[in-house]
Formats: sequence, structure tokens, C-alpha cells
Amino acid sequence: MTDLLAEYAARRPKSLALFERARRSLAGAVGHDLRYALPAPIYIERGQGGRKRDIDGNEYVDFLMGNGALLLGHADPEVVEAIARAASLGTHFGNDHPLHIEWAELVQTLIPCAERVRFTNSGTEATLLAIRIARAATGRSRLLRFAGHFHGWHDDVVHGFHPPFDADGSLGVPPHVREGLVTIPDGNLNLVDETLAANPDIAAVILEPSGASWGRVPIDVEWLRGVREATARRGVLLIFDEVVTGFRFSAGGAQKLYGVTPDLCCLAKVMAGGMPGGAVAGREAVMRVFDMTGDPHHDRHQRVVHFGTFNAAPPSAAAGIAVLRRVADGTAIAAANDAAARLRSAWDDVLERRGIAGYVYGSASTYHVYFETDPGRVREANRRSDLHTTEAGRLKGMSGRLIARYQLRMRSAGVDNMSSTGGVTCAAHSPADVEAATIAFEQTVIALRDEGLVLPLA
Ligand SMILES: Cc1ncc(COP(=O)(O)O)c(C=O)c1O
Repeated sequence: MTDLLAEYAARRPKSLALFERARRSLAGAVGHDLRYALPAPIYIERGQGGRKRDIDGNEYVDFLMGNGALLLGHADPEVVEAIARAASLGTHFGNDHPLHIEWAELVQTLIPCAERVRFTNSGTEATLLAIRIARAATGRSRLLRFAGHFHGWHDDVVHGFHPPFDADGSLGVPPHVREGLVTIPDGNLNLVDETLAANPDIAAVILEPSGASWGRVPIDVEWLRGVREATARRGVLLIFDEVVTGFRFSAGGAQKLYGVTPDLCCLAKVMAGGMPGGAVAGREAVMRVFDMTGDPHHDRHQRVVHFGTFNAAPPSAAAGIAVLRRVADGTAIAAANDAAARLRSAWDDVLERRGIAGYVYGSASTYHVYFETDPGRVREANRRSDLHTTEAGRLKGMSGRLIARYQLRMRSAGVDNMSSTGGVTCAAHSPADVEAATIAFEQTVIALRDEGLVLPLA
């Protein structure tokens, strides 16, 4: 073992032991691919505000924040109280209940396209359902998606988010699924237009309005506007996947921030306040596909079927309502944005001061770090800004070894990120949290430079 691995392991004996047990009980040893780490994942015991503590007593400034679900931070007292109150009356009835309606009304008030709302249990279920709705409403079947954009793990969307984008996304997806998919790079409006013209069987265009992977690959808002116009012109439905951006980029999501209203949007994460939950929200005329009319033929053959034992269960609805009320007044988003802006600026200063080829960027309460590891580009660049790119393959193509070492070193120094080299902030992150994280970032990039994994500016 290297010194780093040995030190990491020495400070986490309980985590190592738990990982051994997990290897014998959990398929793949973890519950989510991104949690896998060597020599062992971190196992968390508790979180409060912007920090969390593992079972070995190590504390982390947390920028994973429940995979982006916790805009208010860990164990927010109002959210915990709302969940406890709802759970004490019964965790689940299988019937609808008043909190369900109140939750939908809040979503309706905040999200521009949300004339109607249908709840699911996760973001993956939300994109699955949105695609079904779009197919039902248009009578067409194919889906246009963009290389690099992430929409969950179900068959229809698992190809195309991780480079190389033309390779299969997972084993186990039937070959015919590819026939239903058209995947192109984002950012080129002519290409969108040509693709829609050449494929009249496209039901919907789905995209992350932040750009791929919550803005890791930024997009131009003018392009978003163009896609809105191009889809409207051809009767193709536009689906915004706002699973990350909803209630984070603004109280009304990216659609409100950028002034571009889709036909349907997918919501989850912040919407459910750290509990399981998701939703599709959309135009009433489209969401009518669920309506029952009482006509047996219509109700059996001419509507979209949707079940889900735990859809909008009371504790999720209660947590969601508590968070959305705080989102609505703007203060939570402003505080989280402020923490991210401070972090991006401080970390970018670190790279500048240390002369490392790379940059820190992001919107709202997100950050991403890009390290330029192509010696040709660093040599040609005379200013750091010359390194800037919007190429999905490059921004999502940093080496697996660099990312693993970055994450390991950041965790060793007391910071947990969301995925790759990026993360999200919450309203509870204090200036002291950002300062502590900046010290960890500086130690990390110096060590990565010494290892030769990141490059000095030529
Ligand atoms: C943009 C986007 N869509 C969909 C999903 C899937 O959501 P879930 O993990 O709740 O299934 C995610 C999850 O990270 C996401 O980031």
C-alpha cells in the first residue's frame, strides 16, 4: 500500500471492516455505483448542516449532500420535525392524503410548466414516466437525447451519458432499445433541426437544462431557446430533466432562471427534502394522458398507466413541503449560491496561485473542477482561460485514476464531493466550511501535481 492508502486505512478501521462485510452481503459491495471506493467507501453515521461524520469519527465538509437532495443541509430541524410528525400518524396508507395535494400545489406554484403534477419515487422513475407520457401524447416512439446528459439508470437513457458516448451504457439492455434512441452532441442547433427533420417519429427531446451532469458541460441558453422553438415547430415534446436543477437553480428551476418553459419536466432530489420522491410536472394538455373518463374502452386502452406503492408517501410529502416553503422565499437558494460562489472563487485562486492547469466553474450552488491533462493544450495555452472548453468528451473525460486519487485525497483531507471532481453546496455551508474545504483542496492539488496526475501551467 502507498503511504496515502495506508494512512487512509489507518484512520478508518471500522469502515474497512464494514466493507469486508458488505462484500459478502451487498451485490457489487455498495448500493450505488458512485459509492464504490478503495480501499473502502466511507460509512456515515450522522450529518448536521454542511458536515457529516463517518463511523470512525472522521468529519467531512459535505458537498455530496445526499446526491444533491439536501438544499438545506443535513438534519434540518424543520424538515426532521415535519417527517416525524407525518410518520407518527402513519408512514404509508396506499391512499392519497392531504399532504400529497399540498405538495403538488407548491410544485405548481413554483415551476412554470407545472400545470399538473404526478409523483414518483425517484428521478429515474420520473424520466421513465416523462418519456412514456411523451410517447403517449404524440403517438410517436423515438427519443432524442444529448451525449453526456444524465437521466438516471433505466434502459431508455442509460446509453450515452458516459464517455465513450457511443458505447453501451450498461450490460443487460436489450439491443432494440438503441433503435428507439437518437443521440447527438448538444450545442448545435442546426444539428437538432436536421435530426428532428430526418426523424419524424421522434416523440420527445430530453435534456439537462444546466448542460450535461448538472453543468459539468455547460450549455448556451440561446441554444436552449432554439431547441424550445425547434421542438414546438415540429410538435415534438421538450422534456427538461430538472432532477438536480429543480428548486436549486431557482425556486422555479432552470426553466424559470433561463425563461425557457418545457412541455414536461422531471423533478426529484431537493423536491423531496432528502426523502425518496420524484415527479413529472407538465402542461395540462399533455398530462391529460392519465385521465380516466369512465368510458371502459378509453380507460383500458387509451391512457397512460402508472402505479407505485410509495408514490408521494406522507413522510416524503411532509419533507418536500417543508423544503419547498423555504425554497419559495428565496433565502435558502441564495445562501447555497453564495457558498458555491465563494468556493469557486477560492479554489480557482488556488489553481492560479499554484500554477496548475485547470479551472473551477459552475452555476448556482454547484461547482466543477477541470484539470487539463493534455500536455499539448497546456503547452499551447499562454493564459489559463485559453484552456476553457465546452467539449463533453474532454470535460467528462478526465482519467479514472486522476478522479479516484482526487476523491481519495479530498476525503483524507476532510471533504466529500458529489461525483467526479464536483459537488453541490447547501444553505447551511458556512464561510468556515468553505475555508476548511479550500485548505483541503490546496493540499490535494499540490499532492496530485507531485504525483504527476495534474500538470503545471507551461
Ligand atoms: C439529471 C438527473 N436525472 C435523473 C437522475 C436520477 O435520479 P435518481 O437518482 O433519483 O433516480 C439524476 C441523479 O443523479 C440526475 O442527476
